[in-house]
Amino acid sequence: MRRLRIGVLASGRGTNLQALIDASREGRLLGEVVIVLSDVASAMALERARKAGIQACYIEPGRKGARLASESEARYIEVLDEARVDLVALAGFMRILSPDFVRHYKLRIMNIHPSLLPSFPGLRAQKQALEYGVKISGCTVHFVDEGVDTGPIIIQAAVPVLEGDTEASLSERILKEEHRIYTEAINLFAQQRLRVEGRIVHVLPLRCMNAGYNPDQTE
Ligand code: GAR
Repeated sequence: MRRLRIGVLASGRGTNLQALIDASREGRLLGEVVIVLSDVASAMALERARKAGIQACYIEPGRKGARLASESEARYIEVLDEARVDLVALAGFMRILSPDFVRHYKLRIMNIHPSLLPSFPGLRAQKQALEYGVKISGCTVHFVDEGVDTGPIIIQAAVPVLEGDTEASLSERILKEEHRIYTEAINLFAQQRLRVEGRIVHVLPLRCMNAGYNPDQTE
């Protein structure tokens, strides 16, 4: 099986990106990050990519707000297609993708979110969790659908909320789990072990692995 080609979209400091780069280098990820795109020119994620010798591009978002302008989004698609990515991994990408983008990479876009979805979608999920008073939060890797943080869930990890936690301390504890489960989810995808039925993602045992996504298959 050839290694999965991963395109990462990130808006910020890029620790999830770094975790994927490190896992790939250490042979713990069944794929490699071949391109990193950002809507923020100064994003540390772009720096991290360049340092690792990975193609890194700032593509201007074209407008303020939650979504990219349509010409800008078309450029994202063009560049990702040119890089022949099998999977688009959102890693702290703070824009909502249009239904066209989602359809273009149907069930080939993953997102990591710092809460146990469907609780606390959207921005500052850790702050939302603290303010709500939950005793357990965590993180979720899911396929991206046309909603916001609503797509089929692949893996979740629980993280306890401790007495005296601040947004920063809870975020830091959750982040450790994010780094672990993003690699795990991508490996399941690379092994073609994810089969999606409606909202439900079935994780197939290793021996059934031909039933999921196959990067070598042409449609
Ligand atoms: C991560 O906590 C990620 O889960 C979150 O942004 C952070 C990015 O950190 N994403 C979202 O909130 C998306 N709704 P990183 O840049 O260090 O990977």
